[in-house]
Amino acid sequence: MLNFLIFGPPGSGKGTQSVKLAEKFNLVHLSTGDMLRAEIAAKTELGRKMGLIMEKGELVPDEVVIEMIAGRTDRAENVAGFLFDGFPRTVEQTHALEKMLNDRKMKIDSMLVLEVDHEELVKRLAGRAELSGRPDDRDPAVIENRIAVYREKTEPIINYSRERGIYQPVNGMGSIEEIFERLSVFVSKYIN
Ligand code: AP5
Repeated sequence: MLNFLIFGPPGSGKGTQSVKLAEKFNLVHLSTGDMLRAEIAAKTELGRKMGLIMEKGELVPDEVVIEMIAGRTDRAENVAGFLFDGFPRTVEQTHALEKMLNDRKMKIDSMLVLEVDHEELVKRLAGRAELSGRPDDRDPAVIENRIAVYREKTEPIINYSRERGIYQPVNGMGSIEEIFERLSVFVSKYIN
């Protein structure tokens, strides 16, 4: 089983590209953002509490997302591997994922990092606000905070991935199809 991380700031196209990569390469797409939004939609107590954090553009506690991901890697059969989208987002989450995979004799194989200009990120997220209904897309200040939180808390994982030799930067500017082609070249090195 292979394990890919798709990484990048809010609006870099992680979700869009994950759906396409998962289909093409027979990967299980695991998005902590989608899991959290499912809790909110189901009106659970956890969803209510996490929704308050998410609408400010802050990260939910590490233990919440680690718990959500735990066990997911046990359930998949007849797939080439996993594509983690929006997880890990802190160094602590990275260590938790690594331990989880090591316990199952797996590792992180590649971290695909989408690189997109700040202005383009803001444009994409503001453009999505009406369609998505996501409270964290509606307020420009929250969009800026999400990007700032990424720079402060999530980007340090890139150094970790460089040390591990799994860092794979990918130009995230251009059309969805162009970026998908670029990502596919890297994933194809592991899966035919
Ligand atoms: P999450 O759901 O992970 O959202 P995010 O990181 O803010 O990213 P987005 O979904 O906004 O962007 P994306 O990179 O997936 O881009 P997308 O493909 O959607 O997290 C939401 C919140 O949940 C966090 O803020 C946090 O509170 C919490 N959370 C989640 N995971 C957590 C964790 N592990 N730890 C702690 N907290 C966590 O594209 C964006 C838009 O751009 C779309 O409209 C799309 O159609 C468009 N688009 C995409 N590509 C292109 C392109 N090439 N050209 C033009 N438009 C494009």
